[in-house]
Amino acid sequence: METKTITTRLMKNEDFDAVVRIDTKVLHRARPDYYQKKFQRLIKSNDCIETSLVAEDENGTIVGFIMGELIIGDFGICRDDATVDTMGVDPEYQRQGIGKKLMADFMLHLKELEVEKLHTLVDKNDDRLMRFYAASRFSPSETFINMERII
Ligand SMILES: CC(C)(COP(=O)(O)OP(=O)(O)OC[C@H]1O[C@@H](n2cnc3c(N)ncnc32)[C@H](O)[C@@H]1OP(=O)(O)O)[C@@H](O)C(=O)NCCC(=O)NCCS
Repeated sequence: METKTITTRLMKNEDFDAVVRIDTKVLHRARPDYYQKKFQRLIKSNDCIETSLVAEDENGTIVGFIMGELIIGDFGICRDDATVDTMGVDPEYQRQGIGKKLMADFMLHLKELEVEKLHTLVDKNDDRLMRFYAASRFSPSETFINMERII
C-alpha cells in the first residue's frame, strides 16, 4: 500500500474534534465525554507532562493519535510509571505504518524525558491490538499481573 508522508506532533486542544472523529470511526460509537476528561487531564491540567501525539498527512489532516500519561508527582516526573492507554488510526489509513510511527515517536519523546519503561493494558482477545503491540516490541509484564474478581 502507498506510504504517504506522515508527520507527528504534540496534541493540542484544537485536535479534540479530530480525535473524537477518528475514535468514532474506529469504535462505531462516539464518546466525546471520555475524551473531554482525557483532554482536561492530559493537556489542560498541570498533573501530566504533555506526551500525547497526533499524526498528520501532507495536507495537515489528522489521521491518527496516541495518548498516554506521564504524571508529575510530589517528587517530580514519575519516570517509571508512563502509560499508553488510547490510540487510534483512521480506518482509511490503517496498515500503512502510521500506528508504528506514532508509537515510535511517542517512545522517542519519553526517552528524551529519561523514561525507561512504558506499559499498557491490552485485551488479549483483541487480535489486532495484540499483534500491533507485539510488532511494536511490547511483551507481557514480568512484574505486574492484572487481578480481577466478579462481583
Ligand atoms: C492498532 C492500530 C492503532 C494499528 O494502527 P496501524 O496504523 O494500522 O498500524 P501499522 O500499520 O503501523 O501496523 C504495525 C503492525 O501492527 C500489526 N497490525 C496492525 N494492524 C493489524 C491487523 N489489522 N491485523 C494484524 N496485524 C496488524 C502488524 O504487525 C503491522 O505490521 P505490518 O503491517 O508490517 O504487518 C489501529 O488498527 C487502530 O486504531 N485500532 C483500533 C484501536 C482501538 O481499538 N482504539 C480505541 C480504544 S484504545
